[in-house]
Amino acid sequence: MQIIATVLATAAALASLTTAAPVAAAPRSYNIPADDGFPTPSPEQLRTIADLADGTLSNAPAPKLAPSSLTAFQLIAFNELFEVAFFSSLVHNITNNVPGFQLPSDAKRDELLDILETVLAQEKLHALNAINVLKKNNAFAPSPCQYQFPTTTVYEAIALAEKFTALVLGTLQDASQLFAKNGDFGPVRSVASSIGNEGEQEGFYRILLAKKPSEKPFLTTSVAAFAYSALQGFVVPGSCPYPLTSIDLPIFPVLRVESGGAGAAVEPRDQLLSFSTDLSGIEAAKKFVGATSGQGLWVTYFSGQLLPISVPVVNVKWVGAVVSFQASFPFEENMMQGLSVAALTTAGSFAAAGEVVGATLAAPGLVQVDDRTKAWDAI
Ligand SMILES: *[C@@H]1O[C@H](CO)[C@@H](O)[C@H](O)[C@H]1NC(C)=O
Repeated sequence: MQIIATVLATAAALASLTTAAPVAAAPRSYNIPADDGFPTPSPEQLRTIADLADGTLSNAPAPKLAPSSLTAFQLIAFNELFEVAFFSSLVHNITNNVPGFQLPSDAKRDELLDILETVLAQEKLHALNAINVLKKNNAFAPSPCQYQFPTTTVYEAIALAEKFTALVLGTLQDASQLFAKNGDFGPVRSVASSIGNEGEQEGFYRILLAKKPSEKPFLTTSVAAFAYSALQGFVVPGSCPYPLTSIDLPIFPVLRVESGGAGAAVEPRDQLLSFSTDLSGIEAAKKFVGATSGQGLWVTYFSGQLLPISVPVVNVKWVGAVVSFQASFPFEENMMQGLSVAALTTAGSFAAAGEVVGATLAAPGLVQVDDRTKAWDAI
């Protein structure tokens, strides 16, 4: 582990040296390879995937669900298909020693590949489980789109996996809450089981990044619409073989975090964070465009299981509908270690996470506190 952490850190240092390159090449679009029949494997192909995943799909009958519970499964399928694409590409890159994805020894490479191939197969089964639930309920079931990834090194890829898995771990809390509200107890056991699986994967990525494997006593929550919005960044626009409105969730403009390595390594202290977003075409934003007081606008954070934390925006600047501003990051009072999920909102007081979506103009902005630890390096 120490070698991987060191190599990842070296790769990060090299990557930061090259960030001065003027224009990054446009990411290529990526299709999920069809060699194992995924997402429509034959029974033998499914057996092979399960073998790699170290376990099978549930053999319990798929539950009958309320329409909004089905939306949650559509989002889960949409997300898992992206994850399958991402880990397929990562496994391919490491297997083929693509520059940026080389590891120091064959032994380390084999270890990482063994683990990531299992993760990949597990994500395939998560996707198939969600697709099966949707088909059994005669609901729209997402099929793969084309994908694009911003990562060009093994360090960046693991850091991104850690980030999106943390968001997924928050989003699955929202799905569980929704099932309970709808009285849909059927999928709760299996969704809870997959939350644990994603948490195990997350602990491994965190160790590779020299972070403590267990992030917080209660992982940061999020909401379905924020996950659907964030996922759009990895989907080649227009490449899904269905309209994005087939999943009944809003898509918000992303809230860019400009401070702390684009939000990936924010220092653990109280500070002002800088944000920006493009509110072009957002009806609810029109009355704010051009107003530099920032009155009526807040940044609202999810952190752990705290109720939403809202702070007023300050230092507002507009260029057309593109707005940049700052907001305080109240780290000390709220112990905001790990992931915080930020939204630009038109209200500053919420009694529950689910209320934030209705007042959101842009989201999510992902803020991760740099909680690397020396101790794990040394093991
Ligand atoms: C795999 O490598 C290609 C080429 O460098 C890169 O564009 C892509 O983002 C990489 N995939 C992942 C998951 O990092």
